[in-house]
Formats: sequence, C-alpha cells, structure tokens
Amino acid sequence: MAQIVGAIATSHIPAIGKAIAEKRQNEPYWKPFFDGYVAAREWIARAKPDVVVSVYNDHGLNFFLDKMPTFAVGAAAEYRNEDEGWGLPVLSSFPGDPALSWFLIERLVAEEFDITTCQEMAVDHGFVVPMGLLWPDCGGKWPVRSVPISINTVQHPLPTPARCFRLGQAIGRAIEAYPKDVRVLMLGTGGLSHQLDGTRAGFINKEFDLLCLDKIVHEPEALTRYTIPQLVENAGSQGVEFLNWLVMRGALGGEVTKIHSNYHVPISNTAGATLVLEHRAAQQRKAA
Ligand code: DHB
Ligand code: FE
Repeated sequence: MAQIVGAIATSHIPAIGKAIAEKRQNEPYWKPFFDGYVAAREWIARAKPDVVVSVYNDHGLNFFLDKMPTFAVGAAAEYRNEDEGWGLPVLSSFPGDPALSWFLIERLVAEEFDITTCQEMAVDHGFVVPMGLLWPDCGGKWPVRSVPISINTVQHPLPTPARCFRLGQAIGRAIEAYPKDVRVLMLGTGGLSHQLDGTRAGFINKEFDLLCLDKIVHEPEALTRYTIPQLVENAGSQGVEFLNWLVMRGALGGEVTKIHSNYHVPISNTAGATLVLEHRAAQQRKAA
C-alpha cells in the first residue's frame, strides 16, 4: 500500500530560482534562507520518497484569469516548465505518475470535490522552485515522480481554509488507499505573509507567520477558522498561498512530528519559511 512519509512546506518565489541558477546560496543575503534546506534534504535522503504530491498555485502560466479552476490535479505523464518572464532558466520536465493521479482524481470526485483534470499542464515557479531547492544536485534528472495539485489562491472567490484542509484530508485518505507500494512526500508551497500589489505592497506580518508555523504542526484546525478576508488581512493578498500549506497538512492526518523549521525575513517581498513534518504512521513503521 502507498504511504505518506511526511511533508515539506516551503516558499516558492522566483528570486530563489534565480539565486540557485546564479549560485548565490552562500551570499550573506541568501545564506540564512538556503541554510534552512540542509535538514530538509537530509530528511528526504532518509525518507526516500518515490512520488511528490505538490500542492501549489499557478500564477498565470497554465491557468489565466479567463479560466481559473478552484482545484486542479495533474494527470500527465510529464509536466513541462516554461519561461514565465522572470529570467529563470527553464528546468527540465518533471516525470508524472498518471496512475496515481487518476486514482486520486477518482477518489476526490467520489468525495464530492469538483476537480479539474489536467492531462497537459505547464508548471510554474510555484511548483519548480521547491523542486530545485529540494533536489539541487540532480542535474535535471528528477529522482521522484510528481502529481501537481493547483489551488486557486489568485482570483477571488478563493476556497476557504476549512475547505482546503478537508481537501487535504481527502487526498491523504486517497493516497493511503492506493494499492501500489509507493512512498509519497506531500509538498505545500508559497507564503508566508506577503503582498505584492496595492497600498499594502511589501506587507509582512511576522507575528501571524510564527502563529501559522506553530499551529500548523499540532493544531491546524485553529487555522481553518479564518475567513478569506481575515487571511488576506493577516497574511497579505498573496499570503493566502498559505491555503496550499493547509491542503498539505490535511493530507498528513492527526499527529505529526516536527523535524525542522526555518523562518527568515525578508526574501524578496516575502517571509521565507521551511517546515518538515514527519507522518506519525511513518514513525511507527520505523520503530516496528
Ligand atoms: C514573489 C512572491 C511570490 O509568491 C510569487 O509568486 C512571486 C514573487 C516575491 O516576493 O517576489
Ligand atoms: Fe507565489
């Protein structure tokens, strides 16, 4: 049977991809941020995932404002990256796992989530930057298969935090019902607080970020009580990308162990953050 080994939440901003491409990881501006990924990669080396289910948001590469699915699940054999105009190198394509994708889609629709299925899907910085952070030395030969899941955090009305958490719970149930022996790593990308436009451009809320980083470990339900306007007010209009983290956390189920976290302000216009959570069942299996 498939098992979720754990989850990683991470920032996804394009400037990170540029810093990787230009090998700036050890510069004073970037070092405190990139140092936060060493423990995440060490944990991945132990957890040995076969597949990444990556919960992110598309920023206008694959979906634009004319057609915006609330929840979209990739069902392709591979996912290509494209030039978004940020000056980033286009990364090599990411192998998919269509059998797992369709299994998840079947289960999610059966649980009454209305899913847009994508048999062709270009993946933007929200998906590719975290992959570059977690597998920087693979030379573009990604050692895991991927199932990208895109959440609408861009065009209102957005799904509520509570609904995103429930979607994550349904994803978790579906993965654990998948009959093949695959080790699944959940990713949640984006955030933390940031606002790129309007009169509050540059807004960062450290207090709220630290509350989110704390509560998402053992008390994620507390975060599902926010409305979208409250989330925008506290996290900024793009800080609503935290919805992706809530989907990820829902998939992990009840008790988890925090392996690692890092928080650093600012990275570009955001509060940069990393969180590694181990699934309780994965720990029990290790102990047995
Ligand atoms: C930035 C943040 C984002 O979430 C994003 O998608 C693009 C840019 C930024 O801080 O520059
Ligand atoms: Fe973003």
